[in-house]
Amino acid sequence: MADPNQFGIAGLLGWPVAHSRSPVIHNHWLAHYGIAGRYVLFPVPPENLPAAARGLAALGLRGCNVTTPHKQAIMPLVDRVDDLARRIGAVNTVVVEKDGTLTGFNNDGNGFVQSLRDASPQWRPDAGPIAVLGAGGAARAVVATLAAQGAREIRLVNRTFDRAQEIAAELGPPVTALRWEDRNDALEGVALLANATSAGSVGKPALDISLDRLPKHALVGDLIYIPPETPLLAAARARGNVTVNGLGLLLNQARPAFNAWFGVMPEITPALRSAIAATF
Ligand code: ATR
Repeated sequence: MADPNQFGIAGLLGWPVAHSRSPVIHNHWLAHYGIAGRYVLFPVPPENLPAAARGLAALGLRGCNVTTPHKQAIMPLVDRVDDLARRIGAVNTVVVEKDGTLTGFNNDGNGFVQSLRDASPQWRPDAGPIAVLGAGGAARAVVATLAAQGAREIRLVNRTFDRAQEIAAELGPPVTALRWEDRNDALEGVALLANATSAGSVGKPALDISLDRLPKHALVGDLIYIPPETPLLAAARARGNVTVNGLGLLLNQARPAFNAWFGVMPEITPALRSAIAATF
């Protein structure tokens, strides 16, 4: 019989968490690689986050993902935060180290960049100017990661200008904050347009933007994956742009987390994509 102490548990701390596809991903990999373990959902209200963080090591968890509204609040509750997560200002993955201490990472931006390269292998962060829409946590992850990976010009456009300005001031060049009324012009000559706003997600109005100035060779990425094709991606695809939805981010950010918890760098296979598609 397998040693019960070898059974590895990881999970997701969030509030709410019920909608998450992460259990499908990690439990698929656990089964595929024959690893004894389980990825579970932990609905943790904000007031319980400190106790939940302290409990990770006490319960013998390998670690956890962290989602809304805890990505920032978890930072002072871990023992160390890696450089990129600190620059992003949020943690999406916690690893319980052998000695029981906690390390925080943020794999969202790297997951997004990898999903773009999967769709368009010749694209690189320094391939040309980039327009990013939004200035919430998702936008911070994308912008900080693109900057860390050599992007030379990031035009950050947000409905509330101050939030974009704050990120630009924090990250410095190559990030420039632009006003929402300049969003159409901001697409001139870009190699990548990334939507990190919530506009276009299920139940929300579509993003109000004209793609007339967007080069046909530009890659268009949307961090949203419900619906799988937002009105933005549909419009971009119709005019010939290569498009990427947020599912690639979700899958790619999960790989290094699984590796850190369970010791195997897992692959994103067609079977995994079908398992996810079956949940929609
Ligand atoms: P997250 O942490 O997931 O990024 P968030 O902090 O709520 O979520 O950020 C949502 C982003 O979507 C913000 O940039 C928001 O703009 P504001 O900063 O002006 O609120 C943007 N957003 C939401 N609805 C939008 C819409 N209809 N048009 C444009 N931007 C929108």
